[in-house]
Amino acid sequence: PTGFLTDALMRPLHDLRISVTDRCNFRCVYCMPKEVFDKDYSFLPHSSLLSFEEITRLATLFVAHGVEKIRLTGGEPLLRKHLERLIAMLHAIKTPDGRELDLTLTTNGTLLAQKAQALKDAGLKRVTVSLDALDDANFKRMNDVDVSVSQILHGLEVAHKVGLGPIKINMVVKKGVNDHEILPMARHFKNTPFVLRFIEYMDVGSSNGWRMDEVVPSSEVIARINAEMPLEAIDANYAGETAQRWRYKDGSGEVGVISSVTQAFCHDCSRARLSTEGKIYTCLFASEGHDLRGLLRGERSDAEISSAIASLWRQRGDRYSELRSENKDTSTTSMPQVRKVEMSYIGG
Ligand code: GTP
Ligand code: 5AD
Ligand code: SF4
Ligand code: SF4
Repeated sequence: PTGFLTDALMRPLHDLRISVTDRCNFRCVYCMPKEVFDKDYSFLPHSSLLSFEEITRLATLFVAHGVEKIRLTGGEPLLRKHLERLIAMLHAIKTPDGRELDLTLTTNGTLLAQKAQALKDAGLKRVTVSLDALDDANFKRMNDVDVSVSQILHGLEVAHKVGLGPIKINMVVKKGVNDHEILPMARHFKNTPFVLRFIEYMDVGSSNGWRMDEVVPSSEVIARINAEMPLEAIDANYAGETAQRWRYKDGSGEVGVISSVTQAFCHDCSRARLSTEGKIYTCLFASEGHDLRGLLRGERSDAEISSAIASLWRQRGDRYSELRSENKDTSTTSMPQVRKVEMSYIGG
């Protein structure tokens, strides 16, 4: 074990987010708009994808460097065939001092009811489910593929029953599109075991045409909920957590806000991202990744790959969200000069 690996800004390496497919069965307007991700869009060919063995080998090296949490993402991760096999392989990896990993997955929930038990049996600890609306017409407008809210709620129930909790629900809030559902969503998930989190709409990728005036600041989300259902702030679960946590004063649960736009949290960002084709991105907004697949397929030893990972992390100085908001020319628009990786490619 190498231990205590930190980047150029003294941030440790704690989370590894692994994208297992760049495909998705949704076409969320803010992520994979139909005009861009149409039938002519070229997704990665199968030969480009890292195999489960390759992913597991890299994950093992990352854990030796201090990673304690692994999150599988996509696209939609449950579209990757036999994903439970990968989960079983990752579940077998232990931290240098012998603990289990926090092994989790972010999904749109469409395939959850059918897969929850197999995922749990393979060793998955918990899931986070994206749900942007409770009103069916609105939800369908947002996912753009005619999937109903009831299908996702059913997936949530099944996942809860098989013990894939604590389950979090992510709602991306876009002004004028679903912000009128903030209160209905809060009311619906109050008094349930589910933790609802509101995410500020971000300037990720280059296809969603982001503008600041479509963002509802988290402070406003909290003010709106607090006016009807009083809240108080509570401490983070761990240093570098994306969400700020709030508890209902009457003891009926908690909500969270992820304020990547109005209160950038780069200063303690400890997340590395591994793309479907084996590139490491040291920031969600990076334009280039660092290829590890070439090393994997080039007969390099574990020691060589491990030191490549360490040197990448030591050099890391990314703090995109903070830079964008500090710069007056880009505080309300995306940084035009950088071609950023798409969210569906890197998994959020
Ligand atoms: P927990 O361990 O459950 O707290 O998970 P998490 O919040 O780390 O992961 P999740 O996939 O639920 O992340 C929620 C959302 O936060 C993502 O979909 C992104 O929109 C945003 N997010 C996560 N990590 C980052 C990050 O490093 N930078 C920025 N700007 N946004 C992030
Ligand atoms: N801004 C904020 N969150 C986003 N997500 C996808 N695109 C964006 C965006 N532009 C969220 C999804 C999901 C997670 C993987 O990322 O809704 O919860
Ligand atoms: Fe929507 Fe997630 Fe699919 Fe993007 S990856 S289109 S946010 S379900
Ligand atoms: Fe981390 Fe980059 Fe997000 Fe900042 S913008 S929190 S450095 S991923």
